[in-house]
Amino acid sequence: MHEDRAARYSRGAIWFHWTIAALILVNVFIGLFHDSFGDGMRGASMNYHKAAGILILFLSFGRLAWRLAHRPPPFASHLRRWEAWLAHITHRLFYFLMIAVPLAGWLYVSASPRVRPLSFFGLFDIPPLPVGRSEGGADFWHEAHELLAFATIGLVLLHVAGALKHQLIDRDNELGRMIPRLGRGRAARQVESPDP
Ligand code: HEM
Ligand code: HEM
Repeated sequence: MHEDRAARYSRGAIWFHWTIAALILVNVFIGLFHDSFGDGMRGASMNYHKAAGILILFLSFGRLAWRLAHRPPPFASHLRRWEAWLAHITHRLFYFLMIAVPLAGWLYVSASPRVRPLSFFGLFDIPPLPVGRSEGGADFWHEAHELLAFATIGLVLLHVAGALKHQLIDRDNELGRMIPRLGRGRAARQVESPDP
């Protein structure tokens, strides 16, 4: 039981993981489909998209600080070398994208010649980043935002496929590392004493 508890991410890491994951998934959905929303919803959903994106940016700084201060649980010893390597690269890329995607979005609206207030959920206005306003600059950051967001979508698909493979095919309860109480004890027992 003790080994199992040690093999789980810390409460803070789990909180950051699921809060940021939920916010990113909603933001991807709004980013992709806002054009097909009705007239009233389009503007409101994009205002939410921008404010939630800034929230993701600052939560990600907090998460990175947490990650640097808390050693994650070691990968299970039965993982093949390429699996551990792929998970490691995916996680690092996620940390980069969680910061780069919203930053590019913020740079995009800051560079746009169409000046619009950037409100943080109606509480206060977020200042533009100090970049000059020009069509060229706005186009560049729009492209960057879009490309990085699509890279995030690809990485999420890979990440979820990996989590499902471990859960459904390998049945090693990898998800239990990120979901407290899920099949408590199963992972450690399976790895340490496989059925005869
Ligand atoms: C992690 C956070 C974010 C994610 C995952 C995300 C994702 C996306 C996606 C997938 C699109 C559609 C691709 C496109 O049309 O360019 C999009 C569009 C957009 N995003 Fe974000 N975004 C995030 C944060 C932000 C932030 C912080 C801002 C600005 C402060 C922002 C501003 C925009 C704008 C203005 C568009 C619309 C572009 C258009 O209508 O063509 N995004 N976003
Ligand atoms: C936008 C969505 C997501 C992002 C950005 C994301 C990001 C991450 C990152 C960065 C880690 C590594 C944590 C660290 O070492 O600090 C991680 C771990 C993990 N994630 Fe996600 N995740 C997302 C969605 C999901 C979903 C939907 C699932 C479940 C199907 C999932 C399951 C897991 C699991 C099980 C781990 C632990 C992997 C291990 O054993 O080390 N994640 N995720």
